[in-house]
Amino acid sequence: MKRKDLMTAGVLVACVALVFGVAGCTQPQEQTEDPYTAELYLPHVIEDDDGTLIQLTPNESVADAYYFQQEGFVPYNTYYAKSDKRGCKSCHSDLMRLLEEAPYEHIGIGTGLDTEWTVTQCVGCHEFSNDYFTIENSFSTMIHALHGEVAQCWNCHDTSTTSDTSDSSMYLWDEVRHGKLRGISDIADADMPDTFTFSQDEISDEEYLFNLNAQYYDWDYLRKQNTVNGVELDEQLVKDWTISISGEVDKKMTFNLADLIANAPKETVPMKWHCVLNPVGGNGIGQVMATGIPLSYLTDQAGIKDSAASLLAIGADGFQDHGGVDLRLLEGKHVMLVYEMNGEPLTWNNGYPCVIMIGGVGCGCFVKQVSDIVFLSADEPFFEATGWPDLEGGITNKPDVGIIGLKEGQVVKTGEQLVIKGYADAYDETVVAVELSMDRGKTWKSFDTSATDVEKWITWEYRFTPEEDRAYCIAVRAVTDKGKVNTTIIEKMFVARSDIAGLAVSSEK
Ligand code: HEC
Ligand code: HEC
Ligand code: HEC
Repeated sequence: MKRKDLMTAGVLVACVALVFGVAGCTQPQEQTEDPYTAELYLPHVIEDDDGTLIQLTPNESVADAYYFQQEGFVPYNTYYAKSDKRGCKSCHSDLMRLLEEAPYEHIGIGTGLDTEWTVTQCVGCHEFSNDYFTIENSFSTMIHALHGEVAQCWNCHDTSTTSDTSDSSMYLWDEVRHGKLRGISDIADADMPDTFTFSQDEISDEEYLFNLNAQYYDWDYLRKQNTVNGVELDEQLVKDWTISISGEVDKKMTFNLADLIANAPKETVPMKWHCVLNPVGGNGIGQVMATGIPLSYLTDQAGIKDSAASLLAIGADGFQDHGGVDLRLLEGKHVMLVYEMNGEPLTWNNGYPCVIMIGGVGCGCFVKQVSDIVFLSADEPFFEATGWPDLEGGITNKPDVGIIGLKEGQVVKTGEQLVIKGYADAYDETVVAVELSMDRGKTWKSFDTSATDVEKWITWEYRFTPEEDRAYCIAVRAVTDKGKVNTTIIEKMFVARSDIAGLAVSSEK
């Protein structure tokens, strides 16, 4: 017998035993012990770094167990699946903080939106290199080695061997847990409330704009040090700053920034700031009110040749990204030399005195402290400015959606309205719909966002009142005008309880 047949036979025997077993029994007797009072197996409630109450495991009741409801109810989640001891968050209350405090400095993921980092975002960024990573930084190599002494496989992984052996693999517990736990109430699309609203006007605090701090060019260090040390902005820099236009142009020209600010036309518009490297659901996105000089004011004087195919911006320390931005992406978009954000001069971190911003593309090409703009011919490399390429030649984070503020396992009050917030963006493509699921991806309720502008991000809100003391899940995905749907689904579980006040918080994590 082949392995697969053997397994099928095994399953069959088990089923027969089950049918006879159940058929032979009388109906379960009385309801057994209430899990809320079964102290020993109560799910842990822990306090997150910022004081939020977190319960990673849903409460379950005897009604969640289908068979063998014998006396002395033992919750499956905590007793058998040991769910309180699984997943990164069972040991690290905040992965972002963990990295910030690590001895080896990680590139900055600490600023930006209040989205929670889970291992899904770590993998999203680490998975494929595209020149940002060295091969030694393979994520599983590091995580395994870091935990060799302190964690077991099952703390982080779930394995799957169904009767179909092609689906037997090593999953991350954090990515499959919602499908493995009891006590979660599913709500189908038809029963979900119609309480979705969205806006494109939300402006982020300039100080919290996502900043990679990649630290691989000299002025990265300078900007960071100036920020850390609170160094005053140097006004002389604006007076001395020059920006050159060269390459496929009729006439090479150099402009002085102070002159431009005094004499050139200027515009103030909301523009999104979306990192090409932002993993789906990450915090590498925001929006500012950008004040700047349209680049066309400079290029109208220099004259762009027909042979120009892309725009390469270069920083004063020689920084340039991996190629030029395709000029076709610039058509009809704002392309500006931005010197003010939200009505204030730029901060050092955001590129004082001047950063180039381009509407509808990722901020990978928003070169800070920009000093030279070169128009390249079609023979020169192009920069992938509209998302993060994956190994198959697609884009991993287009569309990109996230849930803001709500943490995995957050305890909320039963009967009180919860406002779930999130974002959606697809770089150069229009997000035509944001879709939510409350039955763990079985059905999706679609909300129209087709009349939106690609130069701005979308922030959305969804209002939901949990009526029962149960756990619920909310998942989000988006659809673009080109028919793309994100495959990395961002899903948060939250736990509604009426007994929040006075809830015992576990000291054990
Ligand atoms: C069973 C508990 C446990 C689980 C589960 C766990 N960790 Fe850890 N982790 C630790 C301990 C203990 C250390 C080393 C001491 C410390 O916290 O600084 C550590 C260290 C780390 C470090 C190194 C921090 C540094 O100072 O350089 C990283 C990164 C990390 N863990 C990430 C993760 C991720 C990601 C997951 C989920 C996939 C995870 N951990 C799951 C216990 C755990
Ligand atoms: C925005 C992209 C991005 C995200 C998100 C990200 N990393 Fe990294 N990580 C990097 C880069 C880039 C490096 C440096 C790679 C190199 O030097 O080759 C790195 C390096 C590391 C290292 C090696 C030590 C160090 O600090 O350089 C560890 C450990 C690590 N990451 C853990 C994590 C964990 C855990 C998460 C999720 C909480 C995470 N990373 C999320 C980009 C990211
Ligand atoms: C601290 C958490 C943690 C522990 C403990 C851990 N792993 Fe992992 N493992 C990870 C992460 C994170 C990855 C990377 C997943 C990814 O990149 O998608 C991974 C990847 C893997 C993969 C590759 C899976 C794939 O589909 O490519 C295998 C196999 C694996 N682990 C086996 C093990 C085994 C066996 C143990 C116990 C001896 C173990 N792991 C312990 C976190 C952990």
